[in-house]
Amino acid sequence: MTRATWRTRIGFILAAVGSAVGLGNVWRFPWLTAENGGAAFLVLYLALIVAVGVPGLIGELVIGRRSGRNPVGAFRELGGDRFRFLGAIALLAAAVVLSFYSVVGGWILRYTLSSATGAYFAAPGEYFAAIDYGLGAVAFHAAFLFATVAVVHLGVDRGIEASTTLMVPGIVVLLGGLAVWVATLPGAAEGYAFYLSLDVGYLRENFLDVLVAAAGQALFTLSVGAGAMLTYASYLGEDRSLAADGTLIAVLNTAIGVLAGLVVFPLLFSLGVSPGQGGPGALFVSLAGAFGDLPYGRIVGVVFFGVVLLAALSSAISILEVLVSYLIDEHGRSRLQATLGAGGLLLVTGSVAAASPAVFGLLADTIANLVLTAGLIGFLLFDGWVLGRLAREEFERGAGRLARLVSLPWYVAIAVALPVFLAFTFVTGVGSVLGIPISSPIAVAVAVVGVAAVAAVFARCSPSE
Ligand code: TRP
Repeated sequence: MTRATWRTRIGFILAAVGSAVGLGNVWRFPWLTAENGGAAFLVLYLALIVAVGVPGLIGELVIGRRSGRNPVGAFRELGGDRFRFLGAIALLAAAVVLSFYSVVGGWILRYTLSSATGAYFAAPGEYFAAIDYGLGAVAFHAAFLFATVAVVHLGVDRGIEASTTLMVPGIVVLLGGLAVWVATLPGAAEGYAFYLSLDVGYLRENFLDVLVAAAGQALFTLSVGAGAMLTYASYLGEDRSLAADGTLIAVLNTAIGVLAGLVVFPLLFSLGVSPGQGGPGALFVSLAGAFGDLPYGRIVGVVFFGVVLLAALSSAISILEVLVSYLIDEHGRSRLQATLGAGGLLLVTGSVAAASPAVFGLLADTIANLVLTAGLIGFLLFDGWVLGRLAREEFERGAGRLARLVSLPWYVAIAVALPVFLAFTFVTGVGSVLGIPISSPIAVAVAVVGVAAVAAVFARCSPSE
């Protein structure tokens, strides 16, 4: 059986942008921004997208296109059996992310429907508290997952490409419309101010926490670290510049993310609610509450949550495709069997997150950051030390002059600088999960020694040795 490919370049780009744009932009980003000092977080996050996210994303694309395989098959094909574990980390990360992602997707689905009836208008806080975890949440999680399974089972071109080609432009148009309308609301200016003004004092005092959160979010928003972009790149047929494609994907994602912020924050402030309170539920309580006070609140609610639903779905399909491509390639399953199998697993794991706020919080806040970071460190060290010269060759294949000029700096970044930086945030992050603050010099030392050791082992295991 020949492997599926994208029909057009634009189809691939839109599918990847659909993967990148999602709850990360509309829900996780405002939540973390509010928790981490507003624009202080925004600035670090943007810087880390450029410095870490984009080169990391390209590092994933390189492995995917070079191998033309699912994550497990890719590392086996390029590095031999002993590198299959890197693919296993990707599968684990994908399962972790989708388990909580589809719970939030379920919330969004429910809010889209209940906006039409105004069900939450009278008492938004109570409404969210009644539906956030438990049986209802499990049911809506299952419904969201079912929609994801339905798209993915139709295949790469007829399912994923066809649906994202419609969804992504739809998201842009609807978000743009909302942003224009929001600007006319009284009090919107305060929202822009919160979003765009920088509190240097806050940043200085909480630098490490903000840095770790921003680094995790930069990976999350670009769908990097769980093999989703790797898998999408494995369906690329012709040769074209991965550097250009990766940059374009990141630029579009960031632009749409900033646009989402221009909707969410002014909307909150124009109704006098601060995004500072409320953790993961903030969007649902404050924002949904705001809709109740608006003239055409039901319509606005349906449109807003409808956009978010599209964005969430086009991301969820990319995460599910990681597991599905693995089951198809490595276990010879049909696409239908693979989608049902992966869907069944996630039905169970997601239900646990939908039933337990503690499990949900742990997965969504910290574990997701840690597995994505671990995944990306592994992928980049593989690029840098196992593929080595071949990684640069793949980077330059189909690339123009500019991309060939940056090929060496890119290589140094992904082989050395980024792994050390990511390992540093990983160690610091583990410290704060365990409640033992690890001092920065120690974290740096652990990161440098750890990365050097792994790089040395990888280099010796390189098949080209
Ligand atoms: N980037 C998506 C968002 O911002 C979520 C996502 C899709 C993702 N695929 C991923 C996150 C793979 C991590 C890994 O909503």
